[in-house]
Amino acid sequence: MGNEAIVMKDLCKDFKVLNRHEGLKGSIRDLFSRDYKTVNAVKNVDLTVNKGEMIGYLGPNGAGKSTTIKMMTGVLEPTSGEITVNGVVPYINRKKNCENIGVVFGQRSQLWWSLPLIESFKLLRDIYMVSEKDYQDMLELYRSLVDIEPVLHKPVRQMSLGQRTLSDILAAFLHNPDIVFLDEPTIGLDVSMKAKIRSLIAGLNEQKKTTVILTTHDMGDVDALCKRIVIIDKGQKIYDNNIEHLKSYFGSYRTLRLKLDDDTWEETLIDESRTDIMEVINRADRQKKIRDIELIEISTEEVIKKIYEGEAS
Ligand SMILES: Nc1ncnc2c1ncn2[C@@H]1O[C@H](COP(=O)(O)OP(=O)(O)OP(=O)(O)O)[C@@H](O)[C@H]1O
Ligand SMILES: [Mg+2]
Repeated sequence: MGNEAIVMKDLCKDFKVLNRHEGLKGSIRDLFSRDYKTVNAVKNVDLTVNKGEMIGYLGPNGAGKSTTIKMMTGVLEPTSGEITVNGVVPYINRKKNCENIGVVFGQRSQLWWSLPLIESFKLLRDIYMVSEKDYQDMLELYRSLVDIEPVLHKPVRQMSLGQRTLSDILAAFLHNPDIVFLDEPTIGLDVSMKAKIRSLIAGLNEQKKTTVILTTHDMGDVDALCKRIVIIDKGQKIYDNNIEHLKSYFGSYRTLRLKLDDDTWEETLIDESRTDIMEVINRADRQKKIRDIELIEISTEEVIKKIYEGEAS
């Protein structure tokens, strides 16, 4: 096996879903109906992720991100194509695959609800047969990256969403897996908790050389964590490169920020190759009093929005 953590070739996943009809009559008809349609959730995706890489796997709602992750974790069997994770075909060799991976789904916890976190850790240590030394070393690393004391002796059910997410991430890395999948890990968290979680993920990726696949709708996560991003849309891969490359594609775009009389900032995205910025400023100045002007590089948020809107293809 080479340097590859994940290899997907021409990977597809279709779902057959019932065409539902409205009303009581419709529901009864549905009971006996064979009226199915096919949803191509993942379409001919080729992707190679190298060991130790951290990639942002992005795309609009319903793009097929979670479906891809479920195939990588062995929960779903692909309709066609090839997939290997650490040289293992996940859906065939689920047990072996599970030993090599960690998974966090932002919306739900994988931990034992009534157990204090430390007890969950001990269970995981035994399940994955982690040596006492490796276990203690990992706890030591955790302590160096984040303050774990407030959560360690708390049952998961008594935790805040932020504490639970933190605990889930710690649990996912505990057996030192080669690859960790994080599906929207910062969803619903406040700004300071997001920062804490991001630095924890970055620290673990760096210290343990863990491969990380991250899906998120939060461009702050992408800025903080991902050098490389892969974007899928309607099941198909539409972008795979580093974020700088993407921004240079939109090199002529700037965000013009104007501070108005009431101390609020007004933002406009401008394509310099088509619009004269001075003209925009002059026009605005005639309508309202401008107190300050800022011109900034296009943000990741705006770049991704443009891609989703189809302007890069
Ligand atoms: N079990 C299923 N049965 C039928 N259709 C499904 C199933 N799971 C997902 N789909 C469909 O597949 C498509 C991709 O869904 P998926 O959950 O992978 O999207 P996503 O990129 O994770 O979106 P989000 O950002 O909203 O989480 C959607 O059209 C969804 O409705
Ligand atoms: Mg999803």
